[in-house]
Amino acid sequence: MNQSIILIGYMGAGKTTLGKALSQNLGTDFCDLDWYIEEQCGKTIPDIFRESGEEGFRQIEREMLHEVIGKKNTVIAVGGGTPCFFDNMDYMNDKAMTVYLKAEIPTLIDHLHMSHTKRPLLEGKTDSQLAEYIADSLSKREPFYSKAKKTVEIQTIHLQEQIDNYVEIIKKITQQ
Ligand code: S3P
Repeated sequence: MNQSIILIGYMGAGKTTLGKALSQNLGTDFCDLDWYIEEQCGKTIPDIFRESGEEGFRQIEREMLHEVIGKKNTVIAVGGGTPCFFDNMDYMNDKAMTVYLKAEIPTLIDHLHMSHTKRPLLEGKTDSQLAEYIADSLSKREPFYSKAKKTVEIQTIHLQEQIDNYVEIIKKITQQ
């Protein structure tokens, strides 16, 4: 693998699940930017949001992105908002092979319901508020996401077979 592969996309798109599976398949390391932030700060993402606000989190996220991007032979899953702040998207495109995992809102909601990760931006929302929030923020984020070098349309990630299938697709398009 010449360049690291960075998976981007909205919360619930499957970045962590597919990133882990892809790295196992390729025999590379895996790095989840949120996990790296939590490890380095010794705090959870919700704690960072509570203590420093979203603005503080975005500063830390940018700093840590610059740290992890130097890792060789690694598949990196960044946070859903990472590409949409500062010059992060251009920076990632400059340094790595970026892949946008593009999913429709019902798929995102379905995946978010299955997930145990605590996401401060979505906390306390009812299903209809969630759908409204995602529609609004996804349309604002899409211009950043669509700058990725490659895009993979994600339908559903429930079964191992589906994960394996997406891993093969990502492998193929990133080798082109
Ligand atoms: C965020 C996504 C989260 C995490 C934080 C903010 C966002 O990561 O970075 O809660 O702004 O979309 P995931 O996309 O891995 O959930």
